[in-house]
Amino acid sequence: MPETGILFVCLGNICRSPTAEGVFRQRLVTRGLESRFRVDSAGTGDWHVGSPPDRRAQLAAASRGFDISGQRARQVRPDDADGFDYLIAMDRGNHRDLVHLAGTERAHKVRLFMEFAGIDGLEEVPDPYYGGDDGFDRVIDLVEAASDGLIEHLLRAR
Ligand code: 4NP
Repeated sequence: MPETGILFVCLGNICRSPTAEGVFRQRLVTRGLESRFRVDSAGTGDWHVGSPPDRRAQLAAASRGFDISGQRARQVRPDDADGFDYLIAMDRGNHRDLVHLAGTERAHKVRLFMEFAGIDGLEEVPDPYYGGDDGFDRVIDLVEAASDGLIEHLLRAR
């Protein structure tokens, strides 16, 4: 069976989407599913291209057992909309930018990550970049919940 490609996307690719990539990948490994999926992350902006995840994101992830230190930021490319089956946006701004990038034929690939978290009234992973350290812990809580929901969705969709 061909692998399913999942691309997590935020603004800078140094806080939320690298966390999502790391947590989701770990969840796949725990369930023995990693060979069925190809996972990556990217940012809609180019300011941090080549940088490792924000130190606060790395620390918050490490304190919960996730190592995201090896990731390097990249910007989302138009061909990502061909190369991936799911383009998973952290917030509505990312979602809008991805729909624009993907074009009408591939817009169905773009989803809000929090759709899969099952938390009433919550549509976005709040951007923690300009806030305090507790924002990074909150990102992990949300990303864990949405990762489990996304895996259930993907298993049903196959
Ligand atoms: P991210 O957070 O989109 O979760 O990686 C941000 C990182 C950097 C900036 C904004 C958000 N920035 O403006 O540089």
